[in-house]
Amino acid sequence: MTHGKTETLLPDPAGIARAASLLAEGQLVGLPTETVYGLAGDATSDMACARIFEAKGRPRFNPLIVHLPGVEAVERIARMNAAALALASAFWPGPLTLVLPLREGHGLSPLVTAGLDTVAIRLPAHPVMRAVLATFGGPVAAPSANPSGRISPSTAGHVLAGLDGRIAAVLDGGACEVGLESTILAPAETGTRLLREGGLPREAIEALTGPLILDTTPGKVQAPGQLSSHYAPRTPVVLGSALDDPGTIRLGFGPGPADLTLSEGGDLVEAAANLFSALHKADDLATARKAHAIHVAPIPDHGLGRAINDRLARAAAPR
Ligand code: TXA
Ligand code: MG
Repeated sequence: MTHGKTETLLPDPAGIARAASLLAEGQLVGLPTETVYGLAGDATSDMACARIFEAKGRPRFNPLIVHLPGVEAVERIARMNAAALALASAFWPGPLTLVLPLREGHGLSPLVTAGLDTVAIRLPAHPVMRAVLATFGGPVAAPSANPSGRISPSTAGHVLAGLDGRIAAVLDGGACEVGLESTILAPAETGTRLLREGGLPREAIEALTGPLILDTTPGKVQAPGQLSSHYAPRTPVVLGSALDDPGTIRLGFGPGPADLTLSEGGDLVEAAANLFSALHKADDLATARKAHAIHVAPIPDHGLGRAINDRLARAAAPR
């Protein structure tokens, strides 16, 4: 791998200070969160936000998630109703994003909201990300730090594999603990809509809110980012298959023959944390062995399994 002009920063006070000062200059930095690495820029700067779209090669209608250190900072930008406040106190900081109505004078670049009158906000739990947010002191826009349509990054190495030379720096905070993007909810008095399954399991949310209104239709613009082939490796992905075909790479779950496994013990949390790096590895292995497909073992459709199956279905979608 070549290391263009992208600096690698350490998760120490010097690295955190450097990341914050690059953000203040309008530069882009790959930052670790507990879900996936984010491609971070100053959310009030049109130039920084435009650079995010450019670095990702991302469709313009896809709005960006804004990352903030605390609820007071959220209230300056957006309005939180009772449902939003209850979710925030139960699950923030953590792998949850709330889509909230914007407040007048929010100061965000229009590129962040893509013209919507709502904004997606997250309070990440990762201590390094929180330290950068506190040092920088403003809202940070950060989509997942991968080129558009490719697998989300759960290590600094994945960020460099996709974006080396296209961003100022990556802060190496190790592997992401959750390994799946945040769950996205739109809380309303009349019921909370689930826009994207993610690192916070639906069951945990519904224990607080009651049944969610499912609104995760792929390709829908109000819940964008869910373009069907969003998570695609280069090699075609086939789901629920245990075929023993030497021309394929078998990605396993639980016992049984496999070239790579999401979790040998059949643990959904371990599988979620491994998902994107396993897809990266399977893709590289397929290229090396000239395999024509990646076959993925069936994953149970409950808890984090639902978010894993959602990502896998997108990876397997026709391009
Ligand atoms: O875990 C995560 O959420 C990661 C880390 C870096 O925080 N970020 C992430 O961002 O996954 P991104 O840009 O890859 O996904 C953002 C999702 C997209 O599906 C986008 O369309 C949706 O959030 N979104 C943003 N603003 C929205 C809005 N106002 N209404 C509905 N969906 C929105
Ligand atoms: Mg993404």
